Amino acid sequence: MEKRAELYRGKAKSVFTTDDPDRLVLLFRNDTSAFDGERIEQLDRKGMVNNKFNAFIMQKLEDAGIPTQFEQLLGDNECLVKKLDMIPVECVVRNFAAGSLVRRLGVEEGLELTPPTFELFLKNDALHDPMVNESHAQAFGWATLDQLAEMKALTFRINDILKQLFDDAGLLLVDFKLEFGLFHGKVVLGDEFSPDGSRLWDKATRKKMDKDRFRQGLGGVIEAYEEVAQRLGVPL
Ligand code: TMP
Repeated sequence: MEKRAELYRGKAKSVFTTDDPDRLVLLFRNDTSAFDGERIEQLDRKGMVNNKFNAFIMQKLEDAGIPTQFEQLLGDNECLVKKLDMIPVECVVRNFAAGSLVRRLGVEEGLELTPPTFELFLKNDALHDPMVNESHAQAFGWATLDQLAEMKALTFRINDILKQLFDDAGLLLVDFKLEFGLFHGKVVLGDEFSPDGSRLWDKATRKKMDKDRFRQGLGGVIEAYEEVAQRLGVPL
């Protein structure tokens, strides 16, 4: 496999083509963004930690039968993935109230949500990722009803798998965001799973161990990511 041109530069990752039209290289950079790219800072080691964290989680999901884009780690900051046609809708599951749910509905942070909620957001920084529903996704051609049903079913299965994994490490999986794409017509999990796109709290103290440390200026961002990785057994 040969890495070729940069195809796309996101806020935290860059995507490169390869000599295989069905494969891409993801490069995890140290850039850390909040508020839809309004604030971006470089955090030492973040690219490496998130790349290895993501590889570990994607492998666990594959082992549990979830189709993912992940193929293999290529080094500290890169991995090889399948080339997906990305669906521009983000799937968010919440087990506990936090973030935008607290702001929108005025509920208390930390309220347990039973059953967990499922929400869709349009991936569009300029519009601040507005919340959308299935009829918007269908009407604007972002995804078909069948694809939406598959995304939702996969998201809830992933929640079941990861809730247990984090619980075993003494962590609460508060919420997370997933992105899906199509690989030869099949819905496959894409993008990344890391503390950048999830909320993880210590089970005993409810200490925040995810990107909220950056968003809220709490400090110790990468130290918290590394502690989560170490508790899960992610080799760094
Ligand atoms: P929210 O509370 O801001 O709606 O976010 C819910 C979860 O989804 C949280 O773990 C952060 C993640 N998320 C992203 O990573 N990127 C996004 O663009 C959005 C909307 C959410």
